Amino acid sequence: MCGIVGFIGNEEASPILLDGLSRLEYRGYDSAGLAVYGQEQGVQVVKAKGRLKGLSDLTQGGATVHGSLGVGHTRWATHGAPSDINSHPQVSESGRFAVVHNGIIENYVEIREFLQSKGVTFVSQTDTEVVAQLLEYYYRGGLLDAVNKTLNRIRGAYALGIICADHPDMLIAVRQDSPLIIGRGECFHMLASDVTAVIKYTREVSYLDDGEIAILTRDGVEVRDRYRQVVEKAVSHVDWEVSAAEKGGYEHFMAKEIMEQPEAFRKTVFPRIKDGHVLLDELEFTPEYLKDMDKLYIIACGSSYHVGMVAKYNLEKLLRKPVEVTLASEFRYCDPIVSERTLALVISQSGETIDTLAAMREAKRLGARVLAIVNVVGSTIAREADDVLYTWAGPEIAVATTKAYSTQLALTYLIGLHFAEVMGAISPESYARIVSELLLLPTKMESILEQRDSIQYFASLYFNHPSIFFIGRNVDYAVGLEGSLKLKEISYIHSEAYAAGELKHGTISLIEPGTLVVALGSYAPLFEKTMSNVVEVKSRGADVLGLTTGTLYDAMVKTVDHAMAVPETHPMLLPSLDVLPLQLFAYYVALQRGCDIDKPRNLAKSVTVE
Ligand code: F6R
Repeated sequence: MCGIVGFIGNEEASPILLDGLSRLEYRGYDSAGLAVYGQEQGVQVVKAKGRLKGLSDLTQGGATVHGSLGVGHTRWATHGAPSDINSHPQVSESGRFAVVHNGIIENYVEIREFLQSKGVTFVSQTDTEVVAQLLEYYYRGGLLDAVNKTLNRIRGAYALGIICADHPDMLIAVRQDSPLIIGRGECFHMLASDVTAVIKYTREVSYLDDGEIAILTRDGVEVRDRYRQVVEKAVSHVDWEVSAAEKGGYEHFMAKEIMEQPEAFRKTVFPRIKDGHVLLDELEFTPEYLKDMDKLYIIACGSSYHVGMVAKYNLEKLLRKPVEVTLASEFRYCDPIVSERTLALVISQSGETIDTLAAMREAKRLGARVLAIVNVVGSTIAREADDVLYTWAGPEIAVATTKAYSTQLALTYLIGLHFAEVMGAISPESYARIVSELLLLPTKMESILEQRDSIQYFASLYFNHPSIFFIGRNVDYAVGLEGSLKLKEISYIHSEAYAAGELKHGTISLIEPGTLVVALGSYAPLFEKTMSNVVEVKSRGADVLGLTTGTLYDAMVKTVDHAMAVPETHPMLLPSLDVLPLQLFAYYVALQRGCDIDKPRNLAKSVTVE
């Protein structure tokens, strides 16, 4: 979704804004723009539909736009089609105010009509333009006064960056339900949608809370809460390297992130296992609480939801407690049955997904305790949850998640083991076996990634198939959901994942000669059942690509067109291995089709609007 960056300092702002925007590109966007205040030129605005390169070319890398105060934006269109005019920054009629915005102003129609009745002329179709025009409408010389009055009038979710030609010493940041961070440097300050945009310049950041306004000057930052009282903000140190957000020799971030998974898994899991026991120091769940828990409610979107699907199978088996998995966008509106004995497990890479955040708040309101699995440190979900476990995956830049998925999965294993031990629900032998298998997983993951050439070969056989189905049972089905999503989001091939036993209830009518079915048959207890479904699709002419484990490989390869085996592990942990060939398959298919792999069309990395 939209990316915001702002700079105030003593250097030229434009190149810094362009660089910051380039690091926010991964969020997904369709146009870009910047506004820079120069002493002689006033507020200069340059905008371009399309890729950031267009904006960079227009400004010769920022060299033609002078000034040391500015805001920049990558826009993911919501209100008004992608166009130069609808791109941000949006400016007020006089050109005095320039505003960049992430989110949605819900009452923009009413405000627009009100301002039009006062003679204000609008040029764009955006909701954001009302903010710039309202600032102008309320402006009597006091910038903060105009900002306060404007904020009192607008409703919705917004992160705003504001500059005003009359106040060249101030950069205003506002946050309400959309992420915004402040980067603190020596004689300069920045605002941005996330830390990747500022990390090259400073590692000291503060996270704004909802309702807060920050006034950034060259020498300092003053933050005021929703009652406009000055508040002290903690300063956090970001400890990952700039290179973590760069491609490091790979053609795509997605390829790099796929290959980083064994290491990300190690970082997330190994420090949390000591002497054969899972130690989650961050959590305090007593045996009484866990035994009394009436339900575990897993809430997430997209791939994080697919992690929840795997977790449901595993946690129910380990804990013998009901586990419900729900899409966050459905949870809020389904009158969920939640009590004070319910534990909500909220899963989010970004920690900012608006549906997940809203569902989490609803679960809390209904009395649930919230445990969050989050990757982005300091994100809103991480800060508002009762308990948080971080996936130490590092920054994930490709829109399609891979290493965040794998590390989220890893944490669900740890939670299951930890809870089962605290509750006394698992035998010491079973516990020890799973823990030892867990420690072997990264090496097994590496061995799969080493076979990527054979997966590239399969992709070269099937990249032109118009429709691809994924089938499996139990955890194989849950992984199939993720394989199918990966494929469709980056290759644009129609794909569906089905519980293998469900095919006969309708979907099998879509199978015809040449349809590709990816059959997941790693989960040994149900292998034969899945193979019966494979025979059914084969006899209707489907091409079948099988995925199974070493011991079952011979039994599978007889029936399918091609097969691949992953190493053996505990059945509960299989998804961590099975997902890798599926990610690679999606990647190579998309590569073969010439798709924009890291920035698939219409998609955004961090979905901050409902
Ligand atoms: C798919 C993908 C998305 C996200 C979803 C939730 O590859 O990345 O489906 O999983 O948008 O995002 P987070 O985990 O940030 O809440």
